[in-house]
Amino acid sequence: MSEITSAPPAPHAEPLGVYVHVPFCASTCDFCAFYQTAPTADGVNRFLAGIGDEAALVSWPRAATTVFWGGGTPGLLAPGDIRRLGAIVRARLGGEPAEWTVEMAPASVTEARLEALREIGVTRISMGAQSFQPELLDGLGRQHTRGQIFRAYERIRAAGFASVNIDLMFALPGQDEVAWLADLGEALALAPDHLSTYCLTFEEDTKLWVKLSKGQVKLDAEREARLYETTWARLEASGYGQYEVSNFARPGHACLHNLNTWRMHEWIGLGPSAASQHAGRRGGNVADLERWLAGVARGERLTEDLVTLTPALLAEDALIFGVRMNAGVDLAALRQRFPAAPWERVAAVAERLAEAGLAERGGDRLRLTPRGRLLADSVGTTLMDAFSEEIPV
Ligand SMILES: C[S@@+](CC[C@H](N)C(=O)[O-])C[C@H]1O[C@@H](n2cnc3c(N)ncnc32)[C@H](O)[C@@H]1O
Ligand code: SF4
Repeated sequence: MSEITSAPPAPHAEPLGVYVHVPFCASTCDFCAFYQTAPTADGVNRFLAGIGDEAALVSWPRAATTVFWGGGTPGLLAPGDIRRLGAIVRARLGGEPAEWTVEMAPASVTEARLEALREIGVTRISMGAQSFQPELLDGLGRQHTRGQIFRAYERIRAAGFASVNIDLMFALPGQDEVAWLADLGEALALAPDHLSTYCLTFEEDTKLWVKLSKGQVKLDAEREARLYETTWARLEASGYGQYEVSNFARPGHACLHNLNTWRMHEWIGLGPSAASQHAGRRGGNVADLERWLAGVARGERLTEDLVTLTPALLAEDALIFGVRMNAGVDLAALRQRFPAAPWERVAAVAERLAEAGLAERGGDRLRLTPRGRLLADSVGTTLMDAFSEEIPV
């Protein structure tokens, strides 16, 4: 009789991320364009079953190194649903991930939820505080109070997660430099392991975008640049190393999942609107709970904007996202990974960026100067020139 064994997944040749989009929020914040809908018991039930159905449609290449539950508000799920989703995801991981992040909003952080998250193996909590100032929270349409942030943080710490992040937003309407420094100070006093500081972007069709189009709030690029610099100086002085334009961590606490994404490794995205990049393709699931559910129920992942990954595309994105990180990119290593990309043209563009004082070369490494980091979006556009056939370099 021959012995049938299910072969364990191959050891990690390359990182593999698993992203689960949990599309439920208690209400819609005035700035947010992430796909989400109001939770109902039936909707959540069918969503959880749908994740199981979708996971079964994926051909899993190897054990996952990182897991990230984002949203939406995954931390809004009831403890029993957290355990159920945890079991569905764990069944596919092929081992213990090095990091498992879950996003939570302060108003829904309870001991029972935290206990369920610890039980399923979550290692990292990312809490969206945005601001500590009641009037600014109000202006963002947030549902939580300043007091809830402190209570939630205390509970998260008491539960003993390995790493805790706080999200803050700046350049908010009505927020001057003093108010932003006050928010940074309050966050620092909590001593999180990681801080994400996002400059407010006016996303189409959000309430804030409508206000902007009516002229009720104004954009101020100079103020934004000043606030970026203030943030970087303040956090550096407090022992938080900047490792990406918007991300800061104490040593050993950079988010592995995001690092692997920015380095253009592979990840599998489950749930409505979740993006995936694996098996030579990149695409996003349809951003609609019912359509996504109907698709997975008939054995189909409804993917939008599907592209076939080419070495040139991966090299381009690894460069654009890579230079947003303080460590920059190792051009020799990228060349080895993607030999078919137009590296002579990249070298010429890098030269141009260096001449403009936006980037610097140190051996094989290309990294941005602080001024380049301030202009990271336009640096990205310039780097794209190297990959465009039409534009001579
Ligand atoms: C996917 S959201 C979900 C987090 C969680 N639901 C919460 O709100 O606490 C992750 C983070 O993105 C940031 N964010 C979302 N929309 C933004 C925008 N329009 N401009 C800047 N930051 C934004 C916020 O800091 C938010 O905490
Ligand atoms: S910011 Fe978070 S809580 Fe607010 S609508 Fe977006 S995902 Fe939901």
